[in-house]
Amino acid sequence: MIILKSRTEIDEMRKAGQIVAAFHKAIAGMIRPGITTLEIEKFAVRFLKENGAKAHTIGYNGYPYATCASVNDVIAHGFPSDKPLQEGDIVTIDIVAEADGWIGDSAWCYAVGQVSDEARRLMQVTKECLDIGIQHAVVGNRIGDVMHVVQTHAEQHGFSVVRDLLGHGVGREMHEEPNYPHVGKPGKGPRLKEGMVLTIEPMINAGQYHMKMDADGWTARTVDGSLSAQYEHTLAITADGPIVLTAQ
Ligand code: MF3
Ligand code: CO
Repeated sequence: MIILKSRTEIDEMRKAGQIVAAFHKAIAGMIRPGITTLEIEKFAVRFLKENGAKAHTIGYNGYPYATCASVNDVIAHGFPSDKPLQEGDIVTIDIVAEADGWIGDSAWCYAVGQVSDEARRLMQVTKECLDIGIQHAVVGNRIGDVMHVVQTHAEQHGFSVVRDLLGHGVGREMHEEPNYPHVGKPGKGPRLKEGMVLTIEPMINAGQYHMKMDADGWTARTVDGSLSAQYEHTLAITADGPIVLTAQ
């Protein structure tokens, strides 16, 4: 069942969204060669607490951290680690905050120092996939319409879209219906309605889309070892167009 949110409830969701956005603004300047993703994790725990929010992912299906830190060929759900980031790495930091009983969910990909042309292009195209998805997230379009344009944009640039991890509805729970990959066909899937709140979070690989899981049961990597990037926003569908609740 898709839980529609009233205008008041959408307004209540802004707080969690803005905390997540402020977190990303804060870490953008911290990410450089030598910092560890465990330091970012510790900053996240403190930042959420200071802003009156809960780290929603801690204990979620046993996930142990407030952030996911996915470096290079890691697609998503990487564990923060004490290994310093190196010049040329790309790292996606994902965070989910709970404030006033509502969830905000946003991931962002960061370059560590100077990165390769391929990495820069992957980040650029992945961010464009998010932006194009948001532009098409209007009442009356179906999820398949939105994801078709996302997929087409990625593939036109020679990249691939991860199939196995999904975007989702957001509300009092992190994962609500609907759930959907970032590939699709026009005219397919649920129709977007006023009051839906959901994520667009394309995971785009420089090589093939296939994914494998590490022995830790969380870390998802590209099978071919190619780079992967992700950008994610939580947005509300309204009659006046999408409201990006996690806008930075
Ligand atoms: N932003 C992620 C998502 O969209 C958060 C999941 S992290 C988890 O699903 F590890 F807690 F599952
Ligand atoms: Co999400």
